[in-house]
Amino acid sequence: MKKAILTIAAAIMTIAAMAQPKLTKDNIDDVINAMTLQEKASLLVGVRSSLVPGAAGYTCGIDRFGIPITVLADGPAGLRIRPTREGDSKTYYATGMPIGTLLASSWDTDLVETVTKAIGEEVLEYGVDVLLAPGVNLHRNPLCGRNFEYFSEDPLLSGKMAAAYVRGIQSNGVGTSVKHFATNNQETNRLENNSIVSQRALRELYLKNFEIAIKEGKPWTVMSSYNKLNGNYTQQDYDLLTTILKKEWGFDGIVMTDWGNKEGTVKSAKAGNDLMEPGRQNEVDRIIAAVQDGSISKEELDRNVRNMLNYIIRTPKFNGYNFTNKPDLAAHAKVALKGAEESIVLLKNDNACLPLKGTEKVALYGVTSIDFVAGGTGSGEVNKAYVVNMEDALIKAGFTLDNTLADFNRTYVNYKKAENRLNHGWAQAKVKEIAVPLSAIHEQAAANDMAIYVLGRNAGEGADRNINGDFELTEAERDLIRDLSVEYHALGKKVVVVLNIGGVIETASWKGLVDAILLPWSPGQEGANAIANILTGKVSPSGKLPMTFPVKYQDHPSSLNFPYDWNLFHARGVKKDFEYTKYEEGIWVGYRHFATRGAEVSYPFGYGLSYTSFEYSTLAIKATADGFEATIAVTNKGSVAGKEVVQLYVSAPEGGLEKPACELKAFAKTKELKPGESQTLTLKVSNYELASFNEATSAWEAASGRYSIRFGSSVQDIRATAEFKLKKALSWPVNNVLSPER
Ligand code: BGC
Repeated sequence: MKKAILTIAAAIMTIAAMAQPKLTKDNIDDVINAMTLQEKASLLVGVRSSLVPGAAGYTCGIDRFGIPITVLADGPAGLRIRPTREGDSKTYYATGMPIGTLLASSWDTDLVETVTKAIGEEVLEYGVDVLLAPGVNLHRNPLCGRNFEYFSEDPLLSGKMAAAYVRGIQSNGVGTSVKHFATNNQETNRLENNSIVSQRALRELYLKNFEIAIKEGKPWTVMSSYNKLNGNYTQQDYDLLTTILKKEWGFDGIVMTDWGNKEGTVKSAKAGNDLMEPGRQNEVDRIIAAVQDGSISKEELDRNVRNMLNYIIRTPKFNGYNFTNKPDLAAHAKVALKGAEESIVLLKNDNACLPLKGTEKVALYGVTSIDFVAGGTGSGEVNKAYVVNMEDALIKAGFTLDNTLADFNRTYVNYKKAENRLNHGWAQAKVKEIAVPLSAIHEQAAANDMAIYVLGRNAGEGADRNINGDFELTEAERDLIRDLSVEYHALGKKVVVVLNIGGVIETASWKGLVDAILLPWSPGQEGANAIANILTGKVSPSGKLPMTFPVKYQDHPSSLNFPYDWNLFHARGVKKDFEYTKYEEGIWVGYRHFATRGAEVSYPFGYGLSYTSFEYSTLAIKATADGFEATIAVTNKGSVAGKEVVQLYVSAPEGGLEKPACELKAFAKTKELKPGESQTLTLKVSNYELASFNEATSAWEAASGRYSIRFGSSVQDIRATAEFKLKKALSWPVNNVLSPER
């Protein structure tokens, strides 16, 4: 009798376990079958939690299935969590790495993987499952307030950098979220703005970077953007999220919304937007009601739930990872330093002004030398333990600084910060340049060996930059450069400018006044040390511009359709570029425009100087099964060690679609070459990568004929050319979707 009772009890327990299976990778369907509608809907909507203070969002946990809450936190320039916790004396700082634009300036996918492997370790060890990065949107226009988070004006460079970024983070067993999909190219009215874009520009530029990132990086998640694209919110667009992303490109992770709550939850879920973040109860309610009234089918619901469960089983939370809250911050600071050193761009170096001896007596100008900008603001800002400023870095490197000037800058910065705190309750706002009296500069020029001027800008989420006083220099900055130039040059002394900025600024009108210009962008917490190492020649600069520096802002065709003055929109209720933005320039973005029209630029795409020089030779092109492989030898002809970035541009034969004069199709960076040393680089290009998008046939098409292959040190500095013959025209048809006329 006793035995019979036990057997019945065991049977009941087995049935209960079957009805309520604990999630494993092998029983996802059983779990789905056992879930209630309420549970399914909840899994598709984020929840609030305080598991990791400062994390941006969470996914819903369901205990009875062993489904944990997973944690999502921002990037891209490092992990963004709160550094201190109430009632806890420990700190939770993350490493402030170089911004995306600086990483892209390295043109080095291995370097990017090294940097992001370190970021990923912090993600893992602080108990986070997904880093909400990288930001992949194209630099359509220099004034986009979030360009600093993004990589480039070129889709290939953006895509390759993003794929490397994803690989580095995910090598730790944590996820990434490639964002913001897609055409989130302005911050003004970013929640509602409708980007109106031709199918060609979309496919070739604004989706291409994502396509490469998805196919080559295999991210766990993608974040749809806030904005509309050709009339639909991207998060509600089936063609974008399912037809293209999931079906054409084979993306098998989850799509999450950017951090809003749009009324069209049902449309989002149907479109293939698996997760609503940060999540509100009304989104759960909308999904439940829609399933009940049939507007979301059971298949659609289960499809999204399955995607979520497939995501969850990959996470460290699900796999019970015991995080330490102690990532190796000291080791990662070294990675941050290297990331900056390998990426900083030398724009000008007349008469070998740089490198310096490191023992000079330097007059260090600019409030930014104290108020150094390690990264941008908004969700991309990282809570780092410290930021090295230029003053400290130069002293550490051996320079003697002019004390009166350093005191002047420090006093002013401290005063402004205190004033900000008093007036606005916070001190972070970037301090604007202060005028330095000419008489003081006169004395400083006599008392010092040279001038270094650190010019700074900060930008961030939620606002685009302005032309006046942001793209263009302020009056104080202009006057300072002019006065430094006059006073120091009169005594035969040099003036060096360091551009500690997040986005492109005007350089054409003043670059002639100074001897050297270094562009470290916003280089992270160790960036100032990296700048010092380049100034002293400890490291030879090897970064190259990932975008064009135009002569004037208006030289960019997109400037005709971009909100360049935030106040204008607020004040006047203007619709153009606020409610909608027409990408009338089509594919003529960045160097595609400048190189094709032969328009003058201040610094071209791909440009950057070195302390040494390189020669390109023995070029060979070999056809492969699906394209060609090019080899080229690069030799260091100078007297110091250095690295070179080789850029492969292709010009298509006449006869096909109208194309840019050339397009970047591959790139590679040498190892550090000693004087006289050579390295042979191999660059591969597939036929598919040669193709352009033909709207009439809705196909990628590569015309037959002779393709001119150009190896450049920049888009304007072509060092070797060759040819590749495509015997037969090729075409890859795709779905005819996302037309602006739909
Ligand atoms: C930003 C995202 C960010 C998210 C979470 C949004 O406002 O656009 O880039 O990941 O907030 O913080």
